[in-house]
Amino acid sequence: MSLSVTSLVLLMVCGTQASHFLGTVMTYYPKDTFADGSVTVTLRYKLNFHDCTSDTTWSCLSGDCGTRTYTLYVVKQESSRDWCQREGIMTRQISSNAPFDLWLNSGNWISNINGIVSWRAVTRVELRNRSDTSKANTSPQTTILPAVRVPSNCQRNFSLLMFDPDGDKVKCRYGNSSLSECNPCTPPSVLSLSSSSCTLSFSPTSSSNEGSYVVQLVMEDFPRQTITLTKTDGTQTTITTNDAISKIPIQFALKVDPAVPSCTEGLFLPKFLPPTPANRAQLYNNVNQTLEINITAEALNSTVSELLYSGPYNLINSPSGPGQFTLRWTPSESEGGQSLPICFVVQAVSGSVSCFI
Ligand SMILES: *[C@@H]1O[C@H](CO)[C@@H](O)[C@H](O)[C@H]1NC(C)=O
Ligand SMILES: *[C@@H]1O[C@H](CO)[C@@H](O)[C@H](O)[C@H]1NC(C)=O
Ligand SMILES: *[C@@H]1O[C@H](CO)[C@@H](O)[C@H](O)[C@H]1NC(C)=O
Ligand SMILES: *[C@@H]1O[C@H](CO)[C@@H](O)[C@H](O)[C@H]1NC(C)=O
Ligand SMILES: *[C@@H]1O[C@H](CO)[C@@H](O)[C@H](O)[C@H]1NC(C)=O
Ligand SMILES: *[C@@H]1O[C@H](CO)[C@@H](O)[C@H](O)[C@H]1NC(C)=O
Repeated sequence: MSLSVTSLVLLMVCGTQASHFLGTVMTYYPKDTFADGSVTVTLRYKLNFHDCTSDTTWSCLSGDCGTRTYTLYVVKQESSRDWCQREGIMTRQISSNAPFDLWLNSGNWISNINGIVSWRAVTRVELRNRSDTSKANTSPQTTILPAVRVPSNCQRNFSLLMFDPDGDKVKCRYGNSSLSECNPCTPPSVLSLSSSSCTLSFSPTSSSNEGSYVVQLVMEDFPRQTITLTKTDGTQTTITTNDAISKIPIQFALKVDPAVPSCTEGLFLPKFLPPTPANRAQLYNNVNQTLEINITAEALNSTVSELLYSGPYNLINSPSGPGQFTLRWTPSESEGGQSLPICFVVQAVSGSVSCFI
């Protein structure tokens, strides 16, 4: 699944900054159900900071969140050190399949125009047995780069990557401070959100609106019919198509850059050429088998320099020539049967984004 974005990248030198968070995404897959009614779940999350060492911890906001083990890996560090994205893989063991909420709640975002101060994000994990699938729910799957760029004079639609392994209807909304989903939750004035398609639209704006904005979205999955959720002890709850089953945060920075002479892709802003996978492409691969993704981009009036990407931490990038890159990914045994999202953007003086699963 994917998104189509083009943006100009300014190579900025970042000084030492006390404010340094650049967002997060969290998704989950149920793992095992045991005879005693206890369950395990695998949560994958991205943590984005200026550096690759800052840390923050998911803690329990409500319900019984059980016990956890986790490991953090670096996904990608941007070459000018504007950002570093890491992926955490966390396993939680809970004594029952009752829902619970995890949250991040700590220090400061990068400085931004919409006045967001602290980082805060909530994930609702729902693992009760669904009547329509006869298994526990899986969250929507998505990812995003820590920073998405757009020149102030270009119209752009950012269709966020969204895929639901259960086939649920996925919707996006801005976080709500009454639900502790952000602190504060003021959306960027320069974007408008279409919630049913999870698309953010940016319209050309004046140079006075250039700078960084914080985007704090919540992605939710809704059943396509009324269903019941059954707890280990037999208690049942009915939910309708208007009730979200789970929710995940998708938070990142939008950087509105100075105007470019042309918004046409392939001139100042790069354009992807074949065999780059199409937007929203779904690629299938087997455990232990290496998936090879060839990416080619060109920009007549600038130079393609770097491939930026977000995806599983074991994604490997090898540049293979001017404007040519190869991403390789070999799913491990534990990743078998899962759909994992990947996004990439080429950067020169500019960028073009494609995401897929
Ligand atoms: C969910 O319920 C169905 C029907 O009662 C049952 O067959 C299935 O084993 C249950 N799944 C889990 C993961 O408990
Ligand atoms: C963005 O979406 C709007 C509304 O669907 C459409 O009119 C416009 O052409 C799109 N712009 C781009 C650059 O795709
Ligand atoms: C935020 O959540 C509260 C509590 O559920 C709700 O009453 C309110 O309408 C929500 N606000 C928005 C803007 O959706
Ligand atoms: C994948 O490789 C691991 C380690 O070499 C091996 O134990 C496992 O059986 C392999 N799985 C498949 C499905 O090939
Ligand atoms: C990717 O490019 C390399 C080098 O040009 C080529 O050998 C390989 O077959 C390509 N892979 C795919 C999947 O297209
Ligand atoms: C962009 O590059 C093309 C091809 O090299 C050239 O003809 C054109 O003048 C350049 N445009 C600008 C604005 O530099």
